[in-house]
Amino acid sequence: MAEVVRSHNLAVVPGDGIGPEVIEGALMALDAVADAEGFALEVTNYELGANRYLNTGEILTDDDLARLHEHEAVLLGAVGDPRVPPGILEKGLLLRLRRELDLYVNLRPSRLLSGVSSVLNNADQLDVTIVRENTEGLYCGRGESENPGTELEISTEVSLNTWPSISRIVRYGFELAAARKQSLTLVHKTNVLERAGGLYLRAMKEIGPEFPGVETAYQHIDAACLLMVTQPKRFQVVVTDNLFGDILSDLAAGLVGGIGFVGSANMHPGKVSMFEPVHGSAPDIAGTGLANPIGAILSAAMMLQHLGEDAGAERLERAVEAVAGKIAPDHLSTREASELIAEAAS
Ligand code: IPM
Ligand code: MN
Repeated sequence: MAEVVRSHNLAVVPGDGIGPEVIEGALMALDAVADAEGFALEVTNYELGANRYLNTGEILTDDDLARLHEHEAVLLGAVGDPRVPPGILEKGLLLRLRRELDLYVNLRPSRLLSGVSSVLNNADQLDVTIVRENTEGLYCGRGESENPGTELEISTEVSLNTWPSISRIVRYGFELAAARKQSLTLVHKTNVLERAGGLYLRAMKEIGPEFPGVETAYQHIDAACLLMVTQPKRFQVVVTDNLFGDILSDLAAGLVGGIGFVGSANMHPGKVSMFEPVHGSAPDIAGTGLANPIGAILSAAMMLQHLGEDAGAERLERAVEAVAGKIAPDHLSTREASELIAEAAS
């Protein structure tokens, strides 16, 4: 074992449903990487989620937020429980964390791992990173219900788009594409959503000249869904708004074997950031050992990169790649799959 020279201070929020199981797997894999690369992880557990809410009525207090702010990163399992009406935990915990920590980038890569099968026969050509705006759009929480429950009911949901937010997410997309020598595709619906889409187009136009090496393209969200299935290799870095990014990232996950195979980063570069699998709490399979730990483990790899542990991140990704084919046919339990990955990362 190498000598420990660095230590990272992590907050872990296992959350609801399969969250605790996949987080246990991710921590197992992280421990193996830390040992091999010679760093230490100091982990503080936060019991946020349905149980806490049902027991105390609290979802996320100012004190919780202040404590989370003291860590370098948050690793989160999943949020949502059938005992709690939909929206309460999702908005009160997950979306609130994204907003309060100003995690403006939701990075969602999808790539087919070797040995994993896809519904597409050319899915090996898909290697897309969705850069989803993570603080505004239709997720801003503004809107009204008039005359609820009557024949005259009217509901509005407002899509908020501000220049500071749109310009920073578009800039992030350009920086990522430039660093990777990849193309950047803006996805929106500018033929209908002229105002919000127009702001994204303006950002592309104003920021683009700073990145002369980045090839750019634009697709409407509906066409982007079609092309992702029929011509997956057209997409490299995709920048898009909050809801379009939510939908497109599930589609991309579906094309690389399923939602269990993809991780994500909710980031504010240089600040405390949060890493979580793209999947939800899947209460129907909680406790059965059927949950795929790969999404959480790939999120942990993204976290290592954020912590500056690039070699550890690569080691973990290689370990996942090496054994994903054995995990794919669902014949290993969450724990067995995690052990296999941890061993490959050792
Ligand atoms: C996701 C989820 C969340 C979202 C829900 C749970 C609020 O679907 O992380 O993709 O819509 O962002
Ligand atoms: Mn989603």
